[in-house]
Amino acid sequence: FDLTRENTLGLVSAARLAARINAADDLDALVDEARERDMPLKILGGGSNVVLSETVEALVGLMKIEGRNQADQTATHNIVTAGAGENWHEFVAWTVESGMPGLENLAGIPGTVGAAPVQNIGAYGAQLSDFFQRLEAYDTETRQTRVFTREECGFGYRQSRFKAEPDRHVILSLTLALPRDWRPSNVYAGLERLSAGALPGEVMAHVLALRRSKLPDWRRLGNAGSFFHNPVVSAAQAENFADAPRYPQPDGSVKLSAGWLIEQCGLKGERLGPVGTFEGHALVLVNHGGATRRDVIRFAAFVREQVSTRFGVDLVQEPIEI
Ligand code: EPU
Repeated sequence: FDLTRENTLGLVSAARLAARINAADDLDALVDEARERDMPLKILGGGSNVVLSETVEALVGLMKIEGRNQADQTATHNIVTAGAGENWHEFVAWTVESGMPGLENLAGIPGTVGAAPVQNIGAYGAQLSDFFQRLEAYDTETRQTRVFTREECGFGYRQSRFKAEPDRHVILSLTLALPRDWRPSNVYAGLERLSAGALPGEVMAHVLALRRSKLPDWRRLGNAGSFFHNPVVSAAQAENFADAPRYPQPDGSVKLSAGWLIEQCGLKGERLGPVGTFEGHALVLVNHGGATRRDVIRFAAFVREQVSTRFGVDLVQEPIEI
């Protein structure tokens, strides 16, 4: 089954076997099938945060569970639920257009609703865990569907238990709580020009324009967004980065910009074969055409090595290898 069009990096890839997941009830049969064939079961959403092998030796479940609704309205929150296969951005746009703002800073992120908690997506001063209420997932070991609370998800910066323990749980639906007492969040660089009276739709349009100005559209130039985490270093180590953009963390550590580090190494717009860094943003690896996982890994290793040699900082890859 060809996966080349199922991943936003556009890597040449095919799975041994693939099946659509349209409902939670499909999972029992899928797990049986994977066991009979002695293959792992790998779930693919929008394919926007993965590095796919040329041959994926697995049964790939294409997550397509649909549906979204306002599950509840409390005195303080709008409670919204969506199926794991829903497109994340369309879900965000629907909440904003339905008078339930809160997610607008997370507009325009490629991928599905079900993938959002896996790496706790974040952008422009907001992250998914800020709004998380619960999710439903199918446990491939116990074969039961269960609810996970926020505490059980182990959210961190681009991290969750689902990323730390891959393949065990299949996320089926996500429920978020959006505060009714809404205010624009304009603290992130580039959003400060928004007035305090900006409406949710205006904030969303501004975020989308900002993304467009910085990030390549994967439909035109294959990419998986940021390819590395922004590294977090100790306050002492951060002293060596006086000229760099630095983001002090609550625990005293300092987050650096991986994009800045890579650019300082002279690698913005650099390429090796079909893979390179985006000329407008060094943290985004792009596929200039026909790349495979091998090309990506080779170039990523080169970038990591340069940054390590120059700055003594080890970059951690963000997209998941399948
Ligand atoms: N920078 C450079 N050179 C570059 C790129 C960036 O010097 O080539 C500098 C910028 O000037 C700025 C700083 O690095 O001072 C931060 O850049 P930016 O605001 O573009 O954000 P980022 O830290 O590179 C993170 C997220 C993005 C998210 C943006 C906006 C990570 C790994 N990435 O990127 O998320 O959209 O902030 O909130 O945390 C993703 O995860 O795929 C993703 C796109």
